[in-house]
Amino acid sequence: MEIIKVKDYDEMSEKACSYIVEKIKELQEPVLGLATGSTPEGLYDRLIQQNKEQNVSFKNVSTFNLDEYVGLGNDDPNSYHYYMNEKLFKHIDIDKNNVNLPNGVAKDLDKECQDYEKKIIDAKKVDVQVLGIGINGHIGFNEPGTAFTSRTHVVDLDESTREANARFFASLEEVPKKAITMGIDSIMQSKEILLLVSGSSKSEALDRLLNGEVSEEFPASILQKHSNVMIIADEAALNG
Ligand code: F6R
Repeated sequence: MEIIKVKDYDEMSEKACSYIVEKIKELQEPVLGLATGSTPEGLYDRLIQQNKEQNVSFKNVSTFNLDEYVGLGNDDPNSYHYYMNEKLFKHIDIDKNNVNLPNGVAKDLDKECQDYEKKIIDAKKVDVQVLGIGINGHIGFNEPGTAFTSRTHVVDLDESTREANARFFASLEEVPKKAITMGIDSIMQSKEILLLVSGSSKSEALDRLLNGEVSEEFPASILQKHSNVMIIADEAALNG
């Protein structure tokens, strides 16, 4: 794992943006894996800027998001469909047909998971998967105890995850109890992983990821086994 140490959130976002832009320029049909949450917002702002001011085009880019809440439709302001559209897609020249997120309101959720997994396989793998990390070590919504062999699946969200994400909702009760997430194995199939970590609240998780044992009890620890991981972490995350 390569670790890039940066001063703060802005520098993390800046470095992540340069990295993704290089990939977009280098690859003919780049496939990006995307995350939601607070961590990648600065990256998305900068990608929009690159698209508008530097003519970096997303016309040939395809995307796969990690996860979506079960029960929230595309127009729900708390759905990840809505988040991605507001924070990135509607501002750039990406072809909406190349954008993929799990459908959290699918009638048959298991079939939705299988179909999503097949789409990722058909896309011949994600070139760069952007990840954040949960304070409990989750990646995507793969909570502690998730099998390392898991592919896209429906999960019960941990109470700690619901509490951490309650800041986006009117109340904790409104935070969904289930989500669809790419599995650990789906994430590990990506050719490269770009993990972004910012803030002292993530320092314990980052330390455990870097120095702890590889265990399903701490999902992010599996990244130690991936051959191409870049971590961009700020001082607060590195020093606590
Ligand atoms: C989001 C996701 C999650 C987040 C993690 C950190 O799509 O899959 O794993 O990356 O919960 O969230 P933030 O960035 O809000 O601290």
